[in-house]
Amino acid sequence: GKGEYDHFMLKEITEQPTSLAQAIEGRVDPTNGRIALSDFEPGTFDGIDSVQFVACGTSYHAALYGSLALNQAGVQSTALLANEYSVSAPPIDDETLVIAVTQSGETADTLTALRRARAEGAATLTVTNVVGSTAAREADDALFIRAGPEIGVAATKTFSSQAVMLTLLAQRIAGDLRGEPAADLETLLPELESMPGRIETLLDESDADLIAERYRESQSYFFIGRGLGYPVALEGALKFKEITYEHAEGFASGELKHGPLALVTPETPVFAIFTGQEDEKTLKNAEEAQTRGAPVIAVCPDDHPAVEAADEQLAIPETEPDLAGLLANVQLQLVSYYAADLLDRPIDKPRNLAKSVTVE
Ligand code: F6R
Repeated sequence: GKGEYDHFMLKEITEQPTSLAQAIEGRVDPTNGRIALSDFEPGTFDGIDSVQFVACGTSYHAALYGSLALNQAGVQSTALLANEYSVSAPPIDDETLVIAVTQSGETADTLTALRRARAEGAATLTVTNVVGSTAAREADDALFIRAGPEIGVAATKTFSSQAVMLTLLAQRIAGDLRGEPAADLETLLPELESMPGRIETLLDESDADLIAERYRESQSYFFIGRGLGYPVALEGALKFKEITYEHAEGFASGELKHGPLALVTPETPVFAIFTGQEDEKTLKNAEEAQTRGAPVIAVCPDDHPAVEAADEQLAIPETEPDLAGLLANVQLQLVSYYAADLLDRPIDKPRNLAKSVTVE
């Protein structure tokens, strides 16, 4: 049950320190800077020269996160919407690894893409929460995120666990292909082990309820980020529209000036996500919105230059750029939750949506 919580969504947001600790348990070995990920035999990724991720919705945002991490680690990779894959899949050959990211393992669009990839000779893997799901049975290999059951229709803890497992997987694949671990693992792995504690701190100190209250009368809500902050911006907006029924959009920070800026007014708060990847550019983009009257909420650590410049801050603990987006995402989950609660929405069961979408 939901215990002391009003909604499963808040319970599941609050569970993230535990669910993340479970996800990484036994899978990292910070003492010698290696990724155990013993889910895979040595040599599993030999002969792979590119990776395609297929997924929908929130899982697509996690897939994009993983794909950008792989690109940053020097491996050719793309994230594709599973429901677009049947008309526009990029070429596949036996050196392509197709990774289906699906919490439930039952999403029809994602299963169709997975089956097509298999039929065309790709190696396949699924990253899923459900042992014994169709995706886990049909893919060549499965990596389980161990988030435990998620009852709220809006995916929260499973996004965090997917993104963390995909970060690990990206490092493992890149390391295998290069024959050596990525250079920064010595800092990344201990940071990863600190994530549950950092999320705990963030949850204890979050001002997301105040921010939700302050901007409750707005017309539209924008989320911007770059690099690994971009999928987090998309996810922040999806969560917000899904449970509040208010209009929300996520953009790559640098895209704002290529069109969306026309929508910006004092009635459109902009949540700007700072991950330590070209933050000075994101700050400039946020200031362009601010000049048009939009309140800017900087999602960043204390003592970050954006704190001074922005109207508000949602604080995240200091961490590595590979992981900062995950912390920002938890703050944005809370903002959506409190905004929806103020509007008295049926948070765990938004209208027109189902937890598992088994039709194409
Ligand atoms: C959003 C949400 C959906 C799912 C999507 C894919 O909060 O939950 O967008 O992420 O329907 O579902 P899975 O991950 O089960 O394939």
